[in-house]
Amino acid sequence: MARPQAAARRARPADRPAPATPAPNHATTIEGLQEALNLTFLTYRDTHLAHFNVRGPAFPQLHALFEQQYEELWHAVDQIAERIRAMGHLVTHGALTLPDSTLGQTEEDMLQLLTAEHRAAIARWEVLYGMAEEGGDPATADLCTQRVAAHQKHAWMLEATSA
Ligand SMILES: [Fe+2]
Repeated sequence: MARPQAAARRARPADRPAPATPAPNHATTIEGLQEALNLTFLTYRDTHLAHFNVRGPAFPQLHALFEQQYEELWHAVDQIAERIRAMGHLVTHGALTLPDSTLGQTEEDMLQLLTAEHRAAIARWEVLYGMAEEGGDPATADLCTQRVAAHQKHAWMLEATSA
């Protein structure tokens, strides 16, 4: 038997606050966040793999650099997923579904692939920033700004290491 309080809540739906009116491009923004989450998860996975598998004279530096970056990316995965939830949506299975890694075995291959993944993520977040701004969604726009800055920093460090 339903608890009296729960029954009362169901009987008076008009008492519940109406959901906020979604912004015109809300669905597109959510889709964009799911894609950005996927790119972040991909970059996290390949960075952690590089941390495990890197070899060569620069091992100590690269092993530590990759660790610093995969930890930041891991936290970002959670932050992005929680933004999707805060906007009232579930995180899709596809957002965390990854293709096989194409990470190479040499230091240079690793640095190049990871840099390319960061650049792809930056491009995705920049598009999403425009959508969030247009949709009057400052929290998502703020997340976009943070992610662009983080990926730019990671890409800079990888490129400087590779030069
Ligand atoms: Fe480790």
